[in-house]
Amino acid sequence: MQSLVCWLLLLFSCTLPPVKGYANGKVASACSSMLPGHGHSPQVDPIHGINVDKSIFKPGDRIKVTLSGTRFDGFLVQARNVDNIEGPAIGSFSLIDEKISQLLTCNGVQNSAVSHTSKDRKLLVEFYWNAPTASPNHVQFLATVVEKYKIYWVKIPGPVISLSSPPPFVYTPPNRKMAAAHQTASLMKRFSSEGCGSSKFCIRNPTSCDPEQNPECHFLSFKKEDRSVLVEMSGHGHGYIAFALSHDQWMGNDDSYLCVKEDERVLINPAYLTGRNYPEIASPDDLRNVSWGLNDGTIQCSFRRDIQIATSKERFDLSGNYYIFLANGDVKNGQILRHHLQPLITNKMYNITGLPEDVGGSRSPFLIKLHGAIMFIAWMTAVSIGVIVARFFKPVWPSSTLCGEKVWFQIHRCLMITTVVLTSVAFVLPFIYRGYFSKRAGYHPHLGVIVMSLTVLQPVMAIFRPPPQSTRRWIFNWTHWATGSTARIIAVIAIFLGMNLPALDLPDPWDTYTMVGFVLWHVFVDLLLEAHGFYLLRKEAHLMDEDRVQILKSSSEKESHTFKKIVLTVYICGNLAFLTTFLAAISQL
Ligand SMILES: *[C@@H]1O[C@H](CO)[C@@H](O)[C@H](O)[C@H]1NC(C)=O
Ligand SMILES: *[C@@H]1O[C@H](CO)[C@@H](O)[C@H](O)[C@H]1NC(C)=O
Repeated sequence: MQSLVCWLLLLFSCTLPPVKGYANGKVASACSSMLPGHGHSPQVDPIHGINVDKSIFKPGDRIKVTLSGTRFDGFLVQARNVDNIEGPAIGSFSLIDEKISQLLTCNGVQNSAVSHTSKDRKLLVEFYWNAPTASPNHVQFLATVVEKYKIYWVKIPGPVISLSSPPPFVYTPPNRKMAAAHQTASLMKRFSSEGCGSSKFCIRNPTSCDPEQNPECHFLSFKKEDRSVLVEMSGHGHGYIAFALSHDQWMGNDDSYLCVKEDERVLINPAYLTGRNYPEIASPDDLRNVSWGLNDGTIQCSFRRDIQIATSKERFDLSGNYYIFLANGDVKNGQILRHHLQPLITNKMYNITGLPEDVGGSRSPFLIKLHGAIMFIAWMTAVSIGVIVARFFKPVWPSSTLCGEKVWFQIHRCLMITTVVLTSVAFVLPFIYRGYFSKRAGYHPHLGVIVMSLTVLQPVMAIFRPPPQSTRRWIFNWTHWATGSTARIIAVIAIFLGMNLPALDLPDPWDTYTMVGFVLWHVFVDLLLEAHGFYLLRKEAHLMDEDRVQILKSSSEKESHTFKKIVLTVYICGNLAFLTTFLAAISQL
């Protein structure tokens, strides 16, 4: 689950065009189920049909097969043994029109299925089926037809053709087990957290919430019973809730389970995540006792699953250790959208069939949280105080020194070196986490690189600055000021953008308002001190003419120093209050 940042189902890559997965007809992964991985319920009464030009064949015969009906986008046709209709495809096909149809290899048999080449609409496709040398006695054609993304038929039974002089044949329609028929709305009561950690394994977000009391609670529990596990999942949302078992904290190759709300019902399906793509929906046949409920905006679903499912590699063995992902998000036109909220991920691997535990998880990776926290400390607090002290407090401690340097300079240098060190540490964390430069994070990482460069430039320039008496000192003063101010402005913009990235998504719109509040607070104090300085200058100029200048000056200086110290103290308190709020919010993620 990459970036898991993922979007667990980051899965869910933004609005995917319909039939994205299979628009090119390369549907080999659907060979056995013949399901288009769309996750909707298939239609029941077929309106497309298959015709053949012969009903009796000999090995090696070529039979013309026609699929037709109302206009359709996609299709998949196979021939199968009537006595083993869930078994592998039989024989091979050859094409008549290569523009609209292509051959696929199913179950290792070359050309044993035909599909579309694009989703251009068609009324009719024709191809040949070549009977194998060793053919079962009765072969039936099956077709999956996708009319539109949401409208499709699976395994439409076609004609049965028989080897010449076959034994008598009794037709039975293929067993089409579809999710919808079995899944009932029987969950009237909310799930309960009773037994979490003692009789069942629970994952809850927020930690220790009770789904019975708190509708905002995201809840997942596994109760081991003999050789199966009863899964209960509930969460708030208008779209879907899902969980996945993963070997790592990244998305991809994960066994996942989706409960998708569609038209006041909930469809429950397993799915396989092959990467940060749309999940491949599998048939619900591996799930038993499937039921769901909708309760004031809470989606609930439950099912039972065997701990081991030998027939499917994609359904993991539940006695292993896995990271567990819990995701929720929106559904549009029946399609799952990328979660705007990070999925919750457990911080280590768990054996859900082992000792029952009661765990939480985090929606943000630890390294990214650390990155955010350190950047807030550096650019909200350290830099702001360091700059204010240098700008306004030089005259406040004119003679006192600290370790041989002026007090203001020591404070300024100390806070700025802290900023450089913190920024450098925080800067590398996302790269450690991701291992690359994120292209999904918008301008944030680019701004980060600029801030980092300017941050390193500042102390280097400071080391080579000319002495205070030098005629060129003003050049340093201006560059130092300009570089520093640019870095601060860009850093604040980067913080605004960073707070809304999925990997560290602070609550909206609280984060933006609070950050705007901080900027206003800082600007207000800055202007106040600026105005105060301006007022002092005016007063000084006024006093110049008078005799009592010296006495008055020193008493007014004292007053103004007290005023500045009070402002600084109040500013630091406010600044720390903002910082604490943000750090607390990050720790909650
Ligand atoms: C689950 O389904 C089986 C039949 O498939 C049934 O015998 C059993 O009672 C059901 N269990 C629950 C808890 O509903
Ligand atoms: C998980 O727990 C089950 C039941 O105690 C045990 O059989 C299994 O070996 C455990 N799996 C791992 C990977 O430890």
